[in-house]
Amino acid sequence: MTNSDLRVSALRCEYLVAPLGIDERLPRLSWLLESSRRGARQTAWHIRVASVAHKLSAGQADLWDSGRVASAQTTHIAYAGKPLHSRQVCHWQVEVSNELGNTALSAPSLWSTGLLEKGDWSAYWIAADPEIIKRDSGAVAPTMIDSGTPALFRKEFDVPAPIRRATLYVTARGLVDVLLDGHRVGEDLFVPEWTDYDKRIQYRTYDVTSLVSQGRNALAATLGDGWWSGYVGWQETRARYGSLENSLMLQLEVELANGQRLTVGTDSSWHCHTGPIITSDFMMGETYDARREPTGWDAANFSGQNWLAAREVAAPTVPLVAQRSEPVRITETITPVSVNEVHPGIFIFDLAQNITGWARIRLSHATAGARVQIRYGERLNPDGTLYTENLRRAISTDVYICKGGAEETWEPHFTFHGFQYIEITGWPGKPTAASVTGCVIHSATPPAGKFECSHPGVNRQWLNGLWSQRDNFLAVPTDCPQRDERLGWMGDAQVFLRTASYNMDVAAFFTKWMIDVEDAQTADGVFPDTAPRLREGQNFVGLDGLGGAAGWADAGVIVPWTIWRVYGDRRIIERHWNAMTKWLDWIERHNPDGLRARELGNNYGDWLCIPSDTTFRTHSPMKNLLATAYWADGAAKMARMARELGREAEAKRFTAMFEKVCAAFQKEFLREDGKLTVETQTAYLLALAFDLLPEDVRVRAAEHLVENIKALDWHLSTGFIGISHLNPQLTLSGHADVAYRLLLRDDYPSWLYPVKHGATTIWERWNGWTHQDGFFNPQMNSFNHYSLGSVGEWLFRHVAGIELDPEAAGFQQFVLHPYVGQGLDYARASYRTLHGEIVSDWKYIAGKFAWHVHIPVNTSARVYVPSEPGSQISEGGMAVEKSAGLRVIGREGRYLVCEAGAGRYHFASSCQI
Ligand code: BGC
Repeated sequence: MTNSDLRVSALRCEYLVAPLGIDERLPRLSWLLESSRRGARQTAWHIRVASVAHKLSAGQADLWDSGRVASAQTTHIAYAGKPLHSRQVCHWQVEVSNELGNTALSAPSLWSTGLLEKGDWSAYWIAADPEIIKRDSGAVAPTMIDSGTPALFRKEFDVPAPIRRATLYVTARGLVDVLLDGHRVGEDLFVPEWTDYDKRIQYRTYDVTSLVSQGRNALAATLGDGWWSGYVGWQETRARYGSLENSLMLQLEVELANGQRLTVGTDSSWHCHTGPIITSDFMMGETYDARREPTGWDAANFSGQNWLAAREVAAPTVPLVAQRSEPVRITETITPVSVNEVHPGIFIFDLAQNITGWARIRLSHATAGARVQIRYGERLNPDGTLYTENLRRAISTDVYICKGGAEETWEPHFTFHGFQYIEITGWPGKPTAASVTGCVIHSATPPAGKFECSHPGVNRQWLNGLWSQRDNFLAVPTDCPQRDERLGWMGDAQVFLRTASYNMDVAAFFTKWMIDVEDAQTADGVFPDTAPRLREGQNFVGLDGLGGAAGWADAGVIVPWTIWRVYGDRRIIERHWNAMTKWLDWIERHNPDGLRARELGNNYGDWLCIPSDTTFRTHSPMKNLLATAYWADGAAKMARMARELGREAEAKRFTAMFEKVCAAFQKEFLREDGKLTVETQTAYLLALAFDLLPEDVRVRAAEHLVENIKALDWHLSTGFIGISHLNPQLTLSGHADVAYRLLLRDDYPSWLYPVKHGATTIWERWNGWTHQDGFFNPQMNSFNHYSLGSVGEWLFRHVAGIELDPEAAGFQQFVLHPYVGQGLDYARASYRTLHGEIVSDWKYIAGKFAWHVHIPVNTSARVYVPSEPGSQISEGGMAVEKSAGLRVIGREGRYLVCEAGAGRYHFASSCQI
């Protein structure tokens, strides 16, 4: 029986929609249910997977027919059919049943496998003939920096018959853009994205059926530097992986309608040449000479005079793996709000938003050879000119050398910048705002959450966090997009991860990055402070070449933990179990008495707290406290994950480790009066958040925390580490009023201080710019670091109240528990989970609380309705006890607690705050 009210949609495989060329042999499948009926649930699923579409529609599931499985599960269902081989297209469909016995069938979706065996690659790695660059270097315009000259490659081939399907596999040491008969293949940028290239190199798979045709075709590619050979990090170092030579490998596989197959792979029959991109580098920018565009080079029947044969080079010895996360793309374009000629011929464009990406320019009537220079900055000097000091040694300058004549449109290829302002010089005539477009690029993680409340400053603060996430989630979670750094700093990533997961679906992104983290672990177990690892001799790139920093290296445990908790993903904790264990064992080996004070790594402490201490090798009681607290928390998380995986003996071992470290923590840092020996806000926050205090001391510790805040005239003083715990811990310990008070302050230091001063992203430090002192020292002063924006987590978890269930991973069973506070009349959040969209939307006016919630199909929530004991509480206009789909459980203080099934609910109550 089918029922039009029940629908099943949004089929995903390994978190992605219809992914091509994956290398997971037992990929996990998910879907979403929709229904408008309260309490709607799934009672069974039936998956069918077929090797061709028509078989699936004919009901012939030749790869897997799961049969009907009685289950409410809709996520992470692992494929269990015939073993999958390379190039296998899997067409699939799911049929679900609900508790009324109705069924619904999804539309078909698919995934395909990539090249799973080394021997599947018949193409060769090729590089440009060095002669070509030498020969042409005299002809190219001089550049200010030493960075790579992208090379062009091409090959023509004949297709003898109509085609059925064409698939292109692409990889490189460097970055590659591919064209087929003049059309760009896909919209992905920076292929293949960053990994530790000493451990693995990614490839991507494209369906190019619509680009290949019978007759003569041309395959063409531009190859640039990127993370492989360009500048990465701040040491002004190129060739982090040992070579300045870029190379690529492409393999095009064409299936003809007559059943024949044709493979065109890179080899020495390809030709190469230099092209219009004279230099290109992430940090330095790109110089492009449009006069050097070889017309027709990317299409068939090109003469190819002066092109030299490409050189076959040794293949890497590390495995080629399919990229498993969303690609980097242009996700938005922005027209400047103003253009201002600050000096004759120097134009400043304002995007009114700090972004990561570049400027696309449009000009006409230029003289051939005219040089248009584009510089980028996050801020302006007081006189309106571009401020670039904080970029340090990132030159971030693009140069376009005009072809001349009619309209020309250009944007760079293998660079990116972090900026709100664009400075242009050398423009032919006067540009208008429409001459320039800001292109926003980042890993295209799907949007998940939205937050809005009655306070415009708080809304901007939330948005700033979202923008800093967009600007920094670029292949890996980076610290900042503008200066000569842009590394996968792990402390930053872990403190922001919960916020990130509310803003966007970051499951695939972090699943991939966690592989980089494990790849960077040393043989004896030390996680790095940044990942992917960069080569610097045998050491980590980090401060003093070390890793292991408390709160940074610990992300090696926190990331799998959080992805499991938020997405219900057990595979990530299984896969990294050994690495996580090795790390905790390493800490224990070096700190046998339970105090993490002797460890050999870095320690950044509560980075950029007030007053800040930016040493990283020194010891201090606060640093020891922080490190010990993180160790205890790591052990507690391991014990909980061990139980989840059924590893009972390890659960016991890690519980004992937690108890030992916790006892050492209390002995060293807890005084009898309940104060900590180190009296910083972060010290109290960690002790509370990681449950390191005896039950009877917790209340007093929270009071000491509040006293500390009060002593600073109700200001915060935490750095990167404390900040994500500040408002959640205040709220959970009964001081939500203080959390609200901190949130709404706008004098220094506070979250809203930057907002008041025009911030459109999160600043690295509280005092990045102050009224009193202007810009902080440019040596370390980014205006786009997300860490201090981790209050986004609190806005979703505690203001809107969309929270994980402590006992259940994922959001199939969750909690709705808003804390209403002085200063907000309403708050509204929506959050797209793997199970559908949760909504919490409340208004609070003069003691009256009105709350609309949405609980997705096939989920349930424990709902805490703020209300005075004994007062009337209604749902949908009737007494809450009578509401269908709800079960009142009882009262917890000023909340009525109910259990609710799927549906929309409208609560009304009276409550005082
Ligand atoms: C980075 C940070 C990072 C820190 C480590 C800085 O240079 O920008 O965000 O976490 O170093 O202390």
